[in-house]
Amino acid sequence: AYYFIDGQFTKQDEIKISIDDRGYYFGDGVYEVIKVYGGELFTAEEHISRLFTSAAKINLAMPYSEEQLIGVARELIERNNLLDGHVYMQVTRGAAARQHHFPVPAVPAVVTAYTMEGSRPKENMKNGVAVKSVEDIRWLRCDIKSLNLLGSVLAKEEAKAAGCEEAILHRDGIVTEGSSTNMFGVKDGVVRTHPVSNLILEGITRQVVLQLCDELNIPVEEKAFTLAEAFQMDEVFYTSTTAEVMPVITIDGQTIGDGQRGEVTEKLQKAFATKIP
Ligand code: PDD
Repeated sequence: AYYFIDGQFTKQDEIKISIDDRGYYFGDGVYEVIKVYGGELFTAEEHISRLFTSAAKINLAMPYSEEQLIGVARELIERNNLLDGHVYMQVTRGAAARQHHFPVPAVPAVVTAYTMEGSRPKENMKNGVAVKSVEDIRWLRCDIKSLNLLGSVLAKEEAKAAGCEEAILHRDGIVTEGSSTNMFGVKDGVVRTHPVSNLILEGITRQVVLQLCDELNIPVEEKAFTLAEAFQMDEVFYTSTTAEVMPVITIDGQTIGDGQRGEVTEKLQKAFATKIP
């Protein structure tokens, strides 16, 4: 398979990455995961635009334009004959002797990208998954899609160790999001989710789902809910590029709603499926 690194399309055994890359030392960079359906990118403009926003928030100068990076993603898909899966793309602040402050003089940012095969999680989307509540100990700039993922890694591991698919993160008793997903609840037909703020990543799938709610006349409240309220929801689901719209069946072993994929969740899944290429 081909990888994109330092402006070149390269085979894996020819890749050279500096040990001084700030991605290794500090997680000093940003990233995106873009879904590919039948060889076609899904919501690529939105993802690349968010990559630029994340980079701007950490004062990282992007070495390419948005159009160029979409071109890179397309070329990788073509070279690797990818049908279903995703494109991973990351940008680090480059390679320089290890000092916490930005390199002086500045060095070029390093863009890396590759494709990964993967099919839609159809079984889980039908049967739903278990999640575990985990305290949200991440930093206060969760709006940045940063390579610093230790908070997410520890939360996901805690969930996995408990036999769960995802962690439902809560800060001061309030549900923020999942470790790599956005969380939603449904109560009396109203869809609830944490508002856009520094405490969550504004998911592209979250945006698609809110748009679908609008189209389907499903009322939405972008208003945070507590973990205690989550247990009382009729339905809970989470969204991400790879998980799409994922029903949650239990939280900490406690059944949500009637213990099956909820009506609103299924409606949104069906509507989502009509949007994908
Ligand atoms: N995760 N919240 C967090 C903390 C995330 O890391 C992600 C994405 C999302 C959902 O965003 P989107 O709908 O744009 O994928 C929410 C990606 C998939 C990952 O880290 O693999």
